[in-house]
Amino acid sequence: MNTIICGLQWGDEGKGKIVDFLTEDADLVIRGQGGNNAGHTVIANGKKYVLHLIPSGILWGDKQCVIGNGVVMDPIGLCKEIESLEAEGIAITPARLLISDRAHVVLPYHRELDAAREMSLGDKKIGTTKRGIGPTYADKANRIGLRLADFRDPAIAKDLITTRLQEANRTLAYHDLPTFETESVYAELEAAIDRLRPHFTNVIPVVHESWKKGETLLFEGAQGTFLDIDFGTYPFVTSSNTTSGGACTGSGIPPHAIDSVVGVCKAYTTRVGSGPCPTENDDISKFFHDRGMEFGATTGRPRRCGWLDTVLVRYAVMVNGITDLAITILDGLDERETIKICVGYEINGEIHQFPPAEREYWDVINPVYQEVPGWQCDTTKCRTWDELPELAKAYLTRIEELTGAPVKYVGVGPDREQTIIR
Ligand code: IMP
Repeated sequence: MNTIICGLQWGDEGKGKIVDFLTEDADLVIRGQGGNNAGHTVIANGKKYVLHLIPSGILWGDKQCVIGNGVVMDPIGLCKEIESLEAEGIAITPARLLISDRAHVVLPYHRELDAAREMSLGDKKIGTTKRGIGPTYADKANRIGLRLADFRDPAIAKDLITTRLQEANRTLAYHDLPTFETESVYAELEAAIDRLRPHFTNVIPVVHESWKKGETLLFEGAQGTFLDIDFGTYPFVTSSNTTSGGACTGSGIPPHAIDSVVGVCKAYTTRVGSGPCPTENDDISKFFHDRGMEFGATTGRPRRCGWLDTVLVRYAVMVNGITDLAITILDGLDERETIKICVGYEINGEIHQFPPAEREYWDVINPVYQEVPGWQCDTTKCRTWDELPELAKAYLTRIEELTGAPVKYVGVGPDREQTIIR
């Protein structure tokens, strides 16, 4: 049973916890897109881990983890992540963590180019994580990027960096930012590349052999559907396909190998960075921030919060081919007297059931809400569907009706055991 896990909102849906939970039955856990812009928080054995590039499966001693070709890999960031896991006693051996030698490398100038682009956009900035993700994917599409395989021969890597810097330095100088030299770029990366070298490999034969043997593959998505470069709230998106198709192109596993797609969705909505968020609401944002909740795992920024938007989730269920929903942080709504659900968008007097493509429409959306009673009791100790309060079950059933996908998992707290399977 091979499963893709993807986010149905703007990331931060709690995918790390669901991946960690499903890893128990998996043999191989694979990341196929994104970079260290992601921050997956997992609480295992009472300890909190924040993972950025390494699949959450690493927290299970016997699982193999793969960083696929579709990921953009920051060698320095990855080494820091490895060091922090090793400090917790988790050994990151080449047998446990395989990195595709086709993955593109985030270089120091990509981070500067990311900052330069954001600066030049002024109040129209995307609000990126400034990890150089967009410029690295842009170089990939422009066919001027460096892949890990290029670092097997330092002379090839240096030659490619020199060519790329001719243009990158002109852009940086235009923005009055420091320029780069090949030798210093290479020197900055060298120790990290050398540390990671034993992990670089052609991962395709490994992944396919595992699949052919009937082992269980789990694909860990990063970010969420509305940050997808094609299906998201463009241009306020990241630069990869965060939807389920990205798992195949980002790992070299064909679509017919996939048996199920689990969509992770918070019981409400959050977003970090700029861009549309029709149900954003100051009252709900304050409610969560006052409780120390909803601060970004990568940047620490307070997340923008709002009611659940089923116009978005319904669309996400379609484009990802969701077979099962995982609704997370249901307990976040435990204290609310009433709960609103966005069931449609009113745009210029017309009701829309799907998110618009026109960027100008996002500013004039009036969400159409249905209000339902809250359950107003603690769900964090519930361990089965039947133990959930009736009104919480009614809320989840309404989500199923509005989105067209069945709820299979419900998160009622951060710990592994606080996950209900229906
Ligand atoms: P970038 O991926 O750093 O280029 O940022 C583009 C947009 O995606 C910004 O709005 C970021 O806040 C958002 N973003 C990127 N990664 C994540 C994530 O893991 N969770 C939530 N938002 C993200």
